[in-house]
Amino acid sequence: MARRKLVYEGKAKILYEGPEPGTMVQYFKDDATAFNAGKRDVIEGKGVLNNRLSEFFMNGLAGIGVPTHFIRRINMREQLIRAVEIIPLKVVVRNVAAGLMSKRLGIKEGTSLPRPIIEFYYKDDNLGDPLVTEEHVIAFGWASQQDLDDMVALGMRVNDFLSGLMLGVGIKLVDFKIEIGRIWDGDFMRLIVADEISPDSCRLWDIESGQKLDKDVFRCDLGSLSDAYTEVARRLGVMPSNTGHVTKPTLIN
Ligand code: TMP
Ligand code: ASP
Repeated sequence: MARRKLVYEGKAKILYEGPEPGTMVQYFKDDATAFNAGKRDVIEGKGVLNNRLSEFFMNGLAGIGVPTHFIRRINMREQLIRAVEIIPLKVVVRNVAAGLMSKRLGIKEGTSLPRPIIEFYYKDDNLGDPLVTEEHVIAFGWASQQDLDDMVALGMRVNDFLSGLMLGVGIKLVDFKIEIGRIWDGDFMRLIVADEISPDSCRLWDIESGQKLDKDVFRCDLGSLSDAYTEVARRLGVMPSNTGHVTKPTLIN
């Protein structure tokens, strides 16, 4: 069998050429990194959980008419996606102050924001993904004004969808990051949600206890990351069948 072609290897995922033109295979690794890879580890089973969770969120988004790159899951660690041209911006949506926003503006972590706030970060590891304004985005040609309007609209729709979904299982969606890609349908270009949506790219707090159920568990050494992600998956009813504890058949008398 011919070895498939690696297109790109990132910190948490690998992209391979897909079986048909316009498709790619996205492989979820177990690697966890934080602080621009200043901290790294391998968390057994993380890739499997994120593959399942991203499938679940992307399918849900498609169900409410938000276009995404997801086509179908192939196996425990891989999904078939549409090939997109990634816009070099991280789109962060915040509902509650935390992380860099708390640090940068001195707002106490946990303070509810008066409205969801959208930020753009320029994707460049060497620069540490700096915060940029719409002026930078347009002046440097990373995206057009129309793209920016579409990205804000997509970010808001994803925020409404994910916030409601999480609220239903007792979790507060504090903030999240998405990436957006361009695709062409004939002569028409449109923007779709790409990359992944998983607890790697969200802040998720238990509403009752405030317990963190996202990558901050790894960033701040708060316990088992796979337990936290498994709890999110369990609450959403997205339990991978081949991870966690396998129960043996029991003899019924
Ligand atoms: P921040 O507070 O570090 O800016 O993070 C905001 C949200 O974006 C948080 O949910 C984590 C997510 N995020 C990523 O997924 N990848 C990144 O590289 C960064 C900087 C943030
Ligand atoms: N994703 C980035 C990294 O791998 C930053 C982070 O999530 O903290 O370093």
